[in-house]
Amino acid sequence: MEILIYPHEILKCKAEPVKNIDEKIQKIIKDMIKTMYEADGIGLAANQVGELIRLFVIDLREKDEEKIGQVALINPVITACEGEICENEGCLSVPGYQAQIKRYEKILVEGFNLDGNPVKIEAQGLLSRCLQHEIDHLDGFCFVDRLGPIKKALFKKRWQKRQSE
Ligand code: NI
Repeated sequence: MEILIYPHEILKCKAEPVKNIDEKIQKIIKDMIKTMYEADGIGLAANQVGELIRLFVIDLREKDEEKIGQVALINPVITACEGEICENEGCLSVPGYQAQIKRYEKILVEGFNLDGNPVKIEAQGLLSRCLQHEIDHLDGFCFVDRLGPIKKALFKKRWQKRQSE
């Protein structure tokens, strides 16, 4: 699958809920996991591969102290949140750029897994950040959309310059 690069229009669209977790959806998830590994990423939302459906994949095995493995979540909703934390973030759709982004410290996310079973994920640390980042994608937001006005202006200038090169 091809990963769309910011500011692609599809990255700005709100994704639609998945109605049936069927073979087609499972195939998309499988392909997304493969694409995420090939790009050496830790998370990938469906919008980023041009699918406007509410699902994402995450794998933090190498990066997280808690060794959280592969997660595929369908129709995710944040049902509780607590605290605030500002840390560095990046995105496969904005390659080569990182910035400090404010997120909830702890969250509870509910959704469905690949088999259609309901799941609840209580998250903090990198997993919490990653889940919020991917859910943002499904709502049509990239992490750079969360920058303050000055940093955002600087980013846009830098990004436009890079893209024209
Ligand atoms: Ni991203």
